[in-house]
Amino acid sequence: MRKKVIAGNWKMNKNVHEAEEFMKEFIPLVKDSQNEVIICAPYLDLANLVSIAKGTNVKIGAQNMHWEVNGAYTGEVSGEMLKELGVEYVIIGHSERRQYFNETDETVNKKIKAAFACGLKPIVCVGEALEERERGITREIITQQTRLALEGLDNNQVENTIIAYEPIWAIGTGKTATSEDANNSIKEIREEIGKIYGQNVASRVIIQYGGSVKSANARELFTTSDIDGGLVGGASLKPEEFSKIVKY
Ligand code: PGA
Repeated sequence: MRKKVIAGNWKMNKNVHEAEEFMKEFIPLVKDSQNEVIICAPYLDLANLVSIAKGTNVKIGAQNMHWEVNGAYTGEVSGEMLKELGVEYVIIGHSERRQYFNETDETVNKKIKAAFACGLKPIVCVGEALEERERGITREIITQQTRLALEGLDNNQVENTIIAYEPIWAIGTGKTATSEDANNSIKEIREEIGKIYGQNVASRVIIQYGGSVKSANARELFTTSDIDGGLVGGASLKPEEFSKIVKY
């Protein structure tokens, strides 16, 4: 049985003070949840969040990292630096980074390897654009992104990669994929992993759905055969709303 993993992606929202206020309200609301709960916050919030979340069931993640350990990369943060802070997860290859910050399948792959090298667990985003969906090439896009992201990883690493299937047209738009559609795409991703790494590995990989998840649709999405939780943007910014999603 795969566990459910619910991760909030705050994107560029909440300063240190706001992050602290959120946690005060949120931690007690989810303290009895058996699901894995992760908050992926801006870099500046992370140190404080790690210390607030210590001893609770809430884990902390970053939203990006560089693939090198250190060096002349002005403005960048390495996985080692995140790990040293006590961060456990890192989102890699979010569509907003692919779209606005030149993230490619190649840099995604490098970052995943670097994350494992320093002991961070990657949450890797894949998903098709609206135009790709309309052209009927969703399957090709998402299986190719998955294949290239995981290239060169060993079975154990693949098993420990969380994949977030996020159709780009559903992100921040209020348009959610139907649970059937999302579940089908996730099955296709799982099949692709099975072809390369074997059924055993594929059956253990956590694959989330992301794109306008809210408390009103979380249950329907998360109780399908293959959706193992969600990566939640807008609805993760409010403690009560996000706690309802965690406890769907
Ligand atoms: P959304 O964002 O829930 O606001 O659609 C999801 C994401 O981008 O991870």
